Amino acid sequence: MNPRQIGLIKASWDKVLPISDKAAELFYGKLFELDPEVKKLFTGDMSEQGKKLMTMIDTVVKSLDNLEVVVPAIQESGKRHVAYGVKDEDYATVGEALIWTLGAGLGDDFTDEVKESWIAAYTVLSTTMIDAAHTVEA
Ligand code: HEM
Repeated sequence: MNPRQIGLIKASWDKVLPISDKAAELFYGKLFELDPEVKKLFTGDMSEQGKKLMTMIDTVVKSLDNLEVVVPAIQESGKRHVAYGVKDEDYATVGEALIWTLGAGLGDDFTDEVKESWIAAYTVLSTTMIDAAHTVEA
């Protein structure tokens, strides 16, 4: 991610934050439509889950200028996701649902450049989680 992409991500996230409950609802709706199988991995309250997801994305977005600060927390989360039953390939589905949700929330503000920036950010986030997951003993 270059500085321009970081700026675009932050500015677009600021527009999603006020509707984060709705965005979380849209996100899980899309995720379970793309892959109904992953639904059974979620055992808790989905509105609480949505808040946790939005909070984590918020933390990462705010740390994009110095990601090394949050990398350890992202790695720990990646390791916990192994215990939740999450597989490597699920990250692509979650990424697709996230990008779709941002598009739905941002409308015309979701330009190709904004989209590419988010894909770059999600790639860093998911790669960090997946790499950490691979360090967990089976
Ligand atoms: C970059 C991607 C992701 C982020 C930021 C994220 C974020 C979170 C957060 C913050 C939690 C709360 C608990 C914790 O931190 O350990 C969580 C739990 C969970 N996540 Fe993710 N997650 C991601 C990817 C995925 C993927 C790919 C799946 C697979 C479908 C998934 C499924 C789950 C499940 C099943 C739980 C536990 C739910 C429960 O307790 O019922 N997550 N995630």
